[in-house]
Amino acid sequence: MIKTTLIGLAVAGSIAGCATVAADTDYGRVALQMMKADFMTKGPANAERVFQQDEIEQVCSDASQTVAPAVSARLEAAQLASVVYPADGKYFGDWKAGEAIAQNGRGLQSSDAVGAVNGGNCYACHQMTKEEISFGNIGPSLYNYGKLRGQSEPIVKYTWGKLYNAQAYRACSNMPRFGHNGILTQAQLKDVMALLLDPASPVNQ
Ligand code: HEC
Repeated sequence: MIKTTLIGLAVAGSIAGCATVAADTDYGRVALQMMKADFMTKGPANAERVFQQDEIEQVCSDASQTVAPAVSARLEAAQLASVVYPADGKYFGDWKAGEAIAQNGRGLQSSDAVGAVNGGNCYACHQMTKEEISFGNIGPSLYNYGKLRGQSEPIVKYTWGKLYNAQAYRACSNMPRFGHNGILTQAQLKDVMALLLDPASPVNQ
């Protein structure tokens, strides 16, 4: 009996809800208002980062249209121009430290300390080594990345640029912009570079 009443109320509620929303409602604006009212900053999880979008984020969040190739190309070029390459010309750190960064999914969450060292969480989206069998597949497998591509200058610079700002190479990439957004430091990026490209790294076995 109680169940029926609750379902009845839910249906009545949703019908009433529909009736009050005008056909031309700007749902994006309504959703933003709700988020602004309800999302709060806690620790390093800054609510502002959800609301403040740069141009490329605005374009890629607009579900009403696909991004035209000329627009993607312009946005990618602007992102690429802002990539900061290592001033000392050294691109490789320690693959062991890189593996720890790839495994570490902590950082910038409400339960993290402000100023704590962030991880890269690469395994959440990529296969990387044979040993680690728990990985996501939003991104392509990076197993044997260095073995397959080598260490030519274009590959090294592309890989750095991709890690620094994935949107420099794919405007609406789902990969975090690790350098651009200050998620990983330059030293951490070098360690991840070694994980990907060092012939001794488990990625390349
Ligand atoms: C939230 C998911 C996500 C995370 C986390 C992520 N990536 Fe990616 N990555 C992707 C996706 C999706 C692609 C393919 C599409 C694209 O090019 O952006 C990609 C592409 C790449 C590429 C280019 C591959 C190629 O074939 O050229 C590299 C290199 C890479 N990721 C490395 C990393 C590393 C290293 C980390 C951790 C520091 C990482 N990614 C974290 C989603 C992710």
